[in-house]
Amino acid sequence: MDRIKISGGQRLQGSIPISGAKNAALPLMIASLLTDDRLTLKNVPNLADVNLLARILRNHGVDLAVDGKRPGISPHIGETFHLTARDIADTTAPYEMVSRMRASFWVLGPLIARMRQAKVSLPGGCAIGTRPVDLHLTGLKALGAEIDIDGGYVYARAPKGLKGARIIFPKVSVGATHNVLLAAALASGETVIENAAREPEVGDVAHCLVKMGVLIDGIGTSTLRIQGRDRLEGAVHTVLPDRIETGTFAFAVAATGGDVVLEGTRSTLLETAFSTLQQTGAVVTETDTGVRIQRNGADLEPVTVETQPFPGFPTDLQAQLMALMTRAHGTSVIRETIFENRFMHVQELARLGADIQLHGDTATIKGVKHLRGAPVMATDLRASVSLVIAGLMAEGETMINRVYHLDRGFERLEEKLSRCGANIERISAG
Ligand code: EPZ
Repeated sequence: MDRIKISGGQRLQGSIPISGAKNAALPLMIASLLTDDRLTLKNVPNLADVNLLARILRNHGVDLAVDGKRPGISPHIGETFHLTARDIADTTAPYEMVSRMRASFWVLGPLIARMRQAKVSLPGGCAIGTRPVDLHLTGLKALGAEIDIDGGYVYARAPKGLKGARIIFPKVSVGATHNVLLAAALASGETVIENAAREPEVGDVAHCLVKMGVLIDGIGTSTLRIQGRDRLEGAVHTVLPDRIETGTFAFAVAATGGDVVLEGTRSTLLETAFSTLQQTGAVVTETDTGVRIQRNGADLEPVTVETQPFPGFPTDLQAQLMALMTRAHGTSVIRETIFENRFMHVQELARLGADIQLHGDTATIKGVKHLRGAPVMATDLRASVSLVIAGLMAEGETMINRVYHLDRGFERLEEKLSRCGANIERISAG
């Protein structure tokens, strides 16, 4: 397995291009199952998760063509995917594939909506909590799906097709909102989703569905009103910038006392995280081309933060913030309210000398004067990148093992950081 070696202590300076959002690209690709027409997606990031979903969709019969790149085009420009699901060849999403990536479970809604039946393995994904799918299933049942679970598979049928309904989610779930939204696009009549997730990636999918002919009211709010259609058209859609990649690099710049423009992104996608970053003493400025992050040599101020669904502080940036706060001048408190087991980075950060106490869902981080490089282990996607941030701050060499987690969600990470002066390299397994 590949490893990443970092020699810490360099300031980051320059610019970093931000890729298309993984967590929007995945459900947008799944939306191709809803039409026999061509769905073209631009700005798709080149990531392991995207490639795995492409395999899953091909298995269902989706034809995927990727535009070649002309010589001279920057490798940082995202891919253009053309997806056509003229016929759905197979309505089964097998365990071997779905267990490797949770988002692939979201094929369930579109498959039942279009094919009136589906057999989808219960999902896997990052081990950050129990991650049930009850909300997905209750939502789809409300639309008329009959659902049984047997042998680790969800068997769903809707012999007469899906019918619009009012669904009130007792808890905000990004995935359940995607699954029901995608299904409602081909259900007859109106579906109302109350307490829908407001994450920008949900909005991006909704905007794409509108281009495909669905009427949707309330995009960006917690009440979505969807007028389903019998048949959807093809569309051309550009994936929005990755706000988690944006926040991750912003925290990395603050960690090293640098000055970097994050190109092609916008601060409105992560206002709460940027306001937290400003509390630590960093300066965040919107520019013509992106967002500029600066921090001079002054101490980092500690913060108290609780993760929340959008527009709150994202759980997907919790580990990165914790890495930054290991060097704050004082004690920070971070409470994780979304996932119950998302603290696996704590013991790895401690290997670098961080002082972190865990009590239930709350981490108390006492800032230390120095971190020292050490071998560490990447556990899940966002935890892994928090170790990169800590490695950039640490004195000496940090070796991150099991970096395949990083490749699931960060495109050209080492290259993006090293072009800003970081001393980081991938050591290939061979
Ligand atoms: C999405 O996961 C993201 N994944 C996650 O990013 C992100 O951390 C999460 O949303 C929260 O923002 C993708 O977009 C591919 P949820 P998802 O359903 O949809 C509970 C990353 O690193 N819940 O919003 O799986 C659940 O256990 C990944 O890119 C139920 O109880 O998250 C959790 O406590 C990791 N029943 C909470 O809701 C359900 O049926 C929020 O989960 C569904 C969820």
